[in-house]
Amino acid sequence: MIPYTKHNINNSDIKAVVKVLKSKNLTQGPEIELLENSLKKLTKSKYATVVNSSTSALHISCLALGLKKGDYLWTSTTSFVASSNCGLYCDAKIDFVDIDLNDYNIDINQLKKKLKKAKKKNKLPKILIVVHLAGISCKMSEIKKLSKIYKFFVIEDACHALSGKFKNSMVGSCKYSDITTFSFHAIKNITAGEGGAAMTNNSEISKKLNLLRTHGITREKKFFSKKNFKILPTHYEQILLGYNFRLTDFQAALARNQLKRLKKIFTERKKICDFYDKNLINLPIIKSKISREIISGYHLYIIRIDQTKTKKKRFELVNYLLKKKISVGFHYIPIYSHYYYKKYKFKIDDFPNTKIFSNTAISLPLYNGLNKKNLKRITTQIGRFFNND
Ligand SMILES: Cc1ncc(COP(=O)(O)O)c(C=O)c1O
Repeated sequence: MIPYTKHNINNSDIKAVVKVLKSKNLTQGPEIELLENSLKKLTKSKYATVVNSSTSALHISCLALGLKKGDYLWTSTTSFVASSNCGLYCDAKIDFVDIDLNDYNIDINQLKKKLKKAKKKNKLPKILIVVHLAGISCKMSEIKKLSKIYKFFVIEDACHALSGKFKNSMVGSCKYSDITTFSFHAIKNITAGEGGAAMTNNSEISKKLNLLRTHGITREKKFFSKKNFKILPTHYEQILLGYNFRLTDFQAALARNQLKRLKKIFTERKKICDFYDKNLINLPIIKSKISREIISGYHLYIIRIDQTKTKKKRFELVNYLLKKKISVGFHYIPIYSHYYYKKYKFKIDDFPNTKIFSNTAISLPLYNGLNKKNLKRITTQIGRFFNND
């Protein structure tokens, strides 16, 4: 079976992890800061906070931006549930914006319309989370302009987009946003097993992110209350309600070691996508359109069946490929259609592009180590499916 994704661990990754396991620090050691420094160097953002998952990164990002009960958080319909769950964790109200059928990211025109309407009703979002689906950056300059007009914070959910670019800036630079989050989950372009990061250029936000990651605890003397006892040199105090969202040092070592070969990882993934681009032609397939100002992080390769050109359905393609021992994924069913979200009563007809996408899209196998022989098998079988009646 060709899987649709697979993690990529080599001997140097294992060595990097074992080195930490044999050291004095399993958690909170030097690797955390080293990983943060590597991420800052890569993205040119000023601050980085690494945490135990991107879900945690999104959660504390919302808290650091002051999201609370009664506020609105908006995101794209088509993402992993974490992109909106973070709003629910903060007791905020959530809402969705339809996707653009060119790249499956947030539709800027729909966003503009929705913001205009929301302003009239005094229901503007406090935070907009834009999702760089499959690794393709959203049109960040337009989003930044809107955030200035309508005064909302922007978080980039860049879980798929490490090593991607928008207008020559690395995703994660936060040039167009308040915070950018990355994921180091096992199947992401680089992994820590589980892990994530929040990048920002704002020192106050960064301080809050760091506090929220570790129980809201500080060693800053100005917060110490000396009234009741003599302060020891090891003293710390909790100054806000935080969490234990820390990454371990051995996980950080794994991610940092992988980050060292990010260029290689990126190049290999790009080659796979180029292969699909070149070999899936003259078929009733619609591929993502990436504008020239964007370099993808090549996390997923999404295709849609063009139902104006074929009667064949997506489930038939998926079943055919499974029979041929080729596994595929689907990213994602609309967040509002999850069982848990039914109570919020979103209507599918309010998101027509999402409806089309979720009936026609699949993600083809894409991982480091996917060889040419298997790639040929995949494209040949897709061709056979469409060409043989
Ligand atoms: C777009 C998106 N956002 C958020 C997340 C959550 O990341 P993590 O698994 O690191 O919590 C994921 C992970 O699958 C994701 O793909």
